[in-house]
Amino acid sequence: MLQTSHSAKLAVEGLTSKGLDIPVSRIRDLANRSMGTQGIIPLWFGETDTPTPDFIRDAAVASLAKGATFYSEGLGKPWLREAIARYMSDLHSVEMTAERVAVTASGSNAVNLAFQMLLEPGDRVLTTLPSFPTLMNVPALQSANLETLSLKPGLDGWQLDMDELVGKLTHVKVLLLNSPNNPTGWMLGNAQIARIVDAARKTGTWIVSDEVYARIVYEETVAPSFAAHGEREDRIITVNSFSKSWAMTGWRLGWLTMPASLTPECEKLMEFSMSCAPEFIQAGGLAAIEKGEDFIKAQQTRLKKARDLVLKRLGHMERVTCIPPDAAFYAFMHIDGVEDDMDFAADLVRTAQLGIAPGSAFDPSLKGWFRICFAKENEMLQEAMARLQTRLETP
Ligand SMILES: Cc1ncc(COP(=O)(O)O)c(C=O)c1O
Repeated sequence: MLQTSHSAKLAVEGLTSKGLDIPVSRIRDLANRSMGTQGIIPLWFGETDTPTPDFIRDAAVASLAKGATFYSEGLGKPWLREAIARYMSDLHSVEMTAERVAVTASGSNAVNLAFQMLLEPGDRVLTTLPSFPTLMNVPALQSANLETLSLKPGLDGWQLDMDELVGKLTHVKVLLLNSPNNPTGWMLGNAQIARIVDAARKTGTWIVSDEVYARIVYEETVAPSFAAHGEREDRIITVNSFSKSWAMTGWRLGWLTMPASLTPECEKLMEFSMSCAPEFIQAGGLAAIEKGEDFIKAQQTRLKKARDLVLKRLGHMERVTCIPPDAAFYAFMHIDGVEDDMDFAADLVRTAQLGIAPGSAFDPSLKGWFRICFAKENEMLQEAMARLQTRLETP
């Protein structure tokens, strides 16, 4: 074998500037180590066990059969951008136009693009904790600094200190919010959104609002959106995805809305990552947007039952406290007496074949918190709850 003097040195050494310092997701880490476990019930990832509905799959297959195998427009097919604009306008009673919409390859891709557009090294981003790990870490890819504000568990659900949030807007470039929230299920109300938009206008702060769980709500049709409160040139970017609303996690399709003047910048940057979302995938997205309301309603009903089942069972476990989520499909719970959540979660896999996400993945300072994704069949949830209860009752 050919040896060179360089070979003793690893190629990756010294490459810490572009995100290599970012920790591996603790959920992914646990799941990777445990996925082969016989009989495991996996409640760690955020997706339903329902496959994408047939009418969406059929639309994509038909598009492929017709030969949609070529590059498409960078910002997305005009028919999908138009459909998304109509969908957002109708849902939120606002005027959203297609020129402000970009189709992206997933919600994650949309978040990344938003920060590529907005951030320069050293900029400050404010977000709330606990947070979906990607959101916490994406600003670091642009060498920006993250500041955090913690939601507090209260008698009336998770609480955000609005005065503190508004007070901090003066010295951050971007406010990153995720409502409905992963992992807590907390949701901002219209009055809070209006106050934040008003304050951000005064300070010139950008708002990036991750609304991928907008349709996973229990008492209403859709969660309040920043899109409904902003005007055409407000510094607001909303991030959305087909993953959760239409059970399309594997398709990798999403979108963002932005001020019209930003769209050309977005188009420029998109060229360097995905270039464009595949056309046949977008055809599936069009079917979802135009014919997906019945599926969404059925999913909301099913998830509400799943949420109530899990909350009821957790309510009978002495060591567990869980604030009922208003939205999204997670129960974020505290287990009394747990010091190391990674150890406990790994032990739960070994002894009970149950996979749940450690809370420190969403806020490194949390102790004894866990997230359960309850977007699963009743039988599976009943069995998961029984396994958890047995484990907690075993000394
Ligand atoms: C808050 C939040 N934003 C974005 C995403 C990414 O979604 P997508 O599948 O569209 O990349 C997720 C996925 O779990 C999420 O929870």
